[in-house]
Amino acid sequence: MKILHLLASPRQAASNTWWLSRQIVERLAAQHAQAEVILRDLYASGIAHVDAAYADALGSPVAFDGSDAGQGTLTLSDRLIDELEQADQVVIGTPMHNYTVPSVLKAWIDHVVRVRRTFAITPDGKAGLLRDRPVHVVVVSGGRFTGAFARQPDFLTPYLKVALATIGLHDLRFTAMEGLAAGAQAVRNERERVAMELDRQFSRRWQT
Ligand SMILES: Cc1cc2nc3c(=O)[nH]c(=O)nc-3n(C[C@H](O)[C@H](O)[C@H](O)COP(=O)(O)O)c2cc1C
Repeated sequence: MKILHLLASPRQAASNTWWLSRQIVERLAAQHAQAEVILRDLYASGIAHVDAAYADALGSPVAFDGSDAGQGTLTLSDRLIDELEQADQVVIGTPMHNYTVPSVLKAWIDHVVRVRRTFAITPDGKAGLLRDRPVHVVVVSGGRFTGAFARQPDFLTPYLKVALATIGLHDLRFTAMEGLAAGAQAVRNERERVAMELDRQFSRRWQT
C-alpha cells in the first residue's frame, strides 16, 4: 500500500498543514502493515513551473507520441505522474493562500493534469485516464471559509474537485482546520476537534 503525501505549506514541518496531514497519513498507515509513505514536500523540493517545452508538447495539434519526452519539465511531469499513478491513497496537505491553493500546488497540478497522458479530449469533454483512488485533502486557513462565520470565498475546494476530477480522481475527502489566525488557543481547539473527528471517521468510513 503506497501513500503519496503532498505537502504545500511554506512552513513545512512547522506548519499546521503538516500536523494535520500527518494525522491522516498515520491513521492510514496504521491500517496497513506494509504501508509505504512517499513524501513530496513541494516547497522543499522547489517544484519548477511548467516550461516552454512542456507547453509546446501539450499545445501541439498532433497527438503527443512521447517524442518530446525528456525535454524540459516534461521529465518532471513524467516523474510526478508516475508517483501519482503508483499511489493507492493520496494525502494532500494545503493551506489556503488567497482563497485558493498555494502556487506550488498549482504548479504540481499543471504537471499532472496533462492532456493525452492523464486525461483525454472526447466529443463529450475531458475524460480522466487515471484509476480513481481515495484522495484525502487537508485544508488549513487563517480565517474561516465554511459556516456562519465565513467572511471569505472558497475557491480552493471547488477548484481541487474539478482539477482532480479531470484526471479521474473523484473520491476526495476533505478535512479542514479553520480560523487559526485567532491564535494559539484556536490552534489547540482545532487540533483537538479534528483529531476526534478523524478518529470517528477512520473507525467508521475509511477502513479499506
Ligand atoms: C500568501 C498567503 C496567503 C494567505 N491567504 C489566506 C486566505 O486567503 N485565507 C485564509 O483564511 N488564510 C490565508 N492565509 C493564512 C494561512 O492559510 C494560514 O496561516 C494557515 O494557518 C496556514 O498554516 P500553516 O502554515 O501552519 O499550515 C494566507 C497565508 C499566506 C502565507
